[in-house]
Order: sequence, then structure tokens, then C-alpha cells
Amino acid sequence: MPGWAASAAFPSRRYSAEVTQTISVIGTGYLGAVHAVCMAHLGHAVIAYDVDETKVTALANGRTPLYEPGLDELLASSLATGRLTFTSNLADVADADVHFICVGTPQAPGENRADLTYVYAAADALGPHLREDALVVGKSTVPVATAERLRRRIATAAGRPASQVRLVWNPEFLREGFAIEDTLTPDRFVYGVAEPGTPEAEADVALLDAVYAKSLADGTPRLVMDYPSAELVKVAANAFLATKISFINAMSEVCEAAGGDVVALAEAIGHDDRIGHKFLGAGVGFGGGCLPKDIRAFMARAGELGADQALTFLREVDAINLRRRARMVDLAREACGGTLHGRTVAVLGAAFKPNSDDIRDSPALDIAEMIQAAGASVRVHDPRALHVARVQRPGPDYVDTVQEAVAGAHVVLHLTEWQEYRDLDPSTLTTSVTTPVIIDGRNKLDPARWREAGWTYRALGRPHI
Ligand code: UDX
Repeated sequence: MPGWAASAAFPSRRYSAEVTQTISVIGTGYLGAVHAVCMAHLGHAVIAYDVDETKVTALANGRTPLYEPGLDELLASSLATGRLTFTSNLADVADADVHFICVGTPQAPGENRADLTYVYAAADALGPHLREDALVVGKSTVPVATAERLRRRIATAAGRPASQVRLVWNPEFLREGFAIEDTLTPDRFVYGVAEPGTPEAEADVALLDAVYAKSLADGTPRLVMDYPSAELVKVAANAFLATKISFINAMSEVCEAAGGDVVALAEAIGHDDRIGHKFLGAGVGFGGGCLPKDIRAFMARAGELGADQALTFLREVDAINLRRRARMVDLAREACGGTLHGRTVAVLGAAFKPNSDDIRDSPALDIAEMIQAAGASVRVHDPRALHVARVQRPGPDYVDTVQEAVAGAHVVLHLTEWQEYRDLDPSTLTTSVTTPVIIDGRNKLDPARWREAGWTYRALGRPHI
């Protein structure tokens, strides 16, 4: 295997930026592809496995399955070193010192809970190939208590007692669009171990420290705790972020009723250090493959544990978030004179956030589809996500330029805050539309610029001038 370094015997290896490890990454979706590339970039020998041969072949040939700034370049440079290889044969990962489980945990169809099929399948398949001294590191987002279950499943598949399977739970905190930065220089590392304080746990921590040596040497905090706490850290962090967004969107609803301005309000409360400005961006709310499904899975798991009351507020967080999408449709209808039927609506943005081509649970596409269902003709533009949207969410008319999107529009909706939209010169669009009305669903455009160019500017949570 090219670049496949022979592994030195554990536990002679210790936390040092000089020592590289032999690593496997199981699952090459968003998390796994980024993790594999970043680990190879750090100097480790990495073999990444996926059941999907097409994906494996594409990655091995330098093609990423997703848009993430910097990933193509880092994949190319890592492949060129020979330290990064891809395989669809799990037996190829048997030499690894450390195996990272990076498979997806989507929302189960028709339910709130997470679907753990892929995590369990990875554990069952890995067991027979696991060296006795190898460490398994779980990164997927899972319901609390999964780590221990996984350790038992791996043990069964490996034919040894669970106490002889080394497993650390090390949740990821990647933001799409910043995934490389978040992998190489995260805010913190969290290690969940089976029995904190034991020599076995210390050996596992030392091995994982060796993998992350460079970031640790740069001062990234590392926290060691038990499995349930580590699993909960991830979902608690996402629940907090979702709550912060829904909080400001609830304030947005109150501002709309009272004639206040949510942007001014967020700016003012954010100056309080205890609150801070981040994640107080009011608008059409959160989407993507993490926050929505993670808060639902968290509620479902709390229910199973008999702690559902503790998380009933997340139901409201979810409801506020979805209400913003409906409110956007109402504003569009109002702007079109009370009906969407027969109107032309331009939608700027399809991805759930900028700098990503991910359309999972995208507020923009939900809104576009609702407006289309109300009888409007909807034209959607996005700088990066059109190729995915055309396949996965056919329905709206996807167009390649902003000019095409706005041609003849009765209203333009700004739903994903790409820099390209923020940089638009509104005066170049005025003559293309039927009526120059823009509704800013992200509160990121400059109202004065649009108004000066002759547009009626409206936004969620801001007074209608
Ligand atoms: C999130 C977490 O940030 C990350 O730590 C976790 O590992 C995975 O989930 P991500 O889904 O990539 O990451 O996006 P994030 O930047 O958190 O944004 C989530 C959603 O919230 C987006 O739809 C974004 O548009 C929205 N958002 C964000 C707001 O509506 N307002 C804000 O102020 C911030």
C-alpha cells in the first residue's frame, strides 16, 4: 500500500508532534473526507474506507464529493505525499493504530431519533479486522449511551471481551465552510473514555494525543471525561447554538409585532460579554445536516431516558425555527399583493448556509417549494449548490445567474447570505424585475443601498419603511 507506514508497537509511542500514526477513517462523507485529508496533512499515514466505491474512486483521483473551501487543494497535496489512500475493502484498514468512525447518523425516516444503522454496521465490520492494541475513536454524533454499546458490538465482532476493546469518544464540532480550520485548530478536544483515571484510559488518551499532537502543542484545550458526558457535549453544544438562533428569531417575531428592529436589538444585547454577538443572526433560521436533526434526536433520547421534560424547550426551538420559513412565505405573498398564484418569485440561495453546497434541510429550498406550491413560478439561484438541488429537490426552476433569477420577478427573496449577494449592485437589477421588492431573509443586505437604488426593502424582524 503506497505510503502505508509500518506501525511501531504501542505503548512506546507518546504525545509528540514528531511521531506520526497509522490511521484509518471509516466513512468518507462530510466529516470523514475532511478528517482523513486533515490527518494526512498533519503527517499521519491515512487510509480512508467507504462502502461506496464511486466515492472512493473519486477521492483517490482527487475529486471531493462536496464543496468545502480549501478541501480540493488539501486533498491534492495529501494525495501527492502518498500518505493518503482510499479503499472500499475494510480488510485494508487492519494495520491501523487508530480507527476513526466517521459515518453518518441521519434522522430516522418519520421519527425524531437518530438512525444508527451505519454506526453499528461500521462497528460490526471493523471488529474482525481490529488489531488488539488498536484504538477505535468515535466521531459521529450519537445519542448518549451509544459509545458503550458500540464497544460491546465491536468486542462481539472481534471475539474478545468488551474490556479489551480500546474506544474513545471524540465528537467533532465541524462547521461547514470552516471544516478544515475546525479540524486542524478546533476550539477544544473532548475525549470520552470508558473509565477515566485508569491506566487503560491514560494509554488511550496518550495515543489520541499523539494523533492530535500538533494542535495540542498549539494550546488547544483537551478535556477527558466519561463516555456519556462526551456524547452529551456534542448534542448539548448543538442544542445551545440552535436555542440561541431561535431565541433571536423569537425576538424577531416580537419586533415584528411591536415595530422594533431585531438587528438593532441583537447588536445591543450582543455587547454584553455574557451573551456575545455570535449566533444572534435573525432570519429564516437554521438548517443543514446537524442542528435540526441533532436537537430532534436529543429530544428523542431524553424521552427514552425518562428525562423528556428537561428538553421540552427544544420542541419550541424547533417550532420557532420552522415558523420563520412560513413567515417568509407570508411576507412574499404580501409583497405580491396578497396572492402568490401566477406570480414570479426569485430566490437567492439554495444551500442551507453560504460557502457550502449542502442543501439538507435548507430553509431556502423549503421556502421556495412552499411558494411554488402556492402557485408561483419560482426561480432559484445559488453559486454552488445548483448541481445538488437540481437532482435532489427538483421542482423550482434552477438558474445559473442572478440576472436570470430576477428577470420579471414580482419579489426577490434573499435566503442564503453568500458574499456574492451581499456584493450585488441593486441598481443593475432594478430594470430586470417586474416590481423592485427585496425581502432579506438573512438580514445581511444593506437596506440603504437597496432603497437608494429604488427598491422596497423588507426583512424579517425589522420595521417596514
Ligand atoms: C453546526 C455546528 O456549528 C457545528 O459545531 C456542528 O458540528 C455541526 O452543526 P453547521 O451545520 O455547519 O455546524 O452550521 P452553522 O454555522 O452552525 O449554522 C447552522 C445553521 O444556523 C445555518 O443554517 C445557518 O444559516 C444558521 N444560523 C447560524 C442562523 O440562522 N443564524 C446565526 O446567527 C448563525
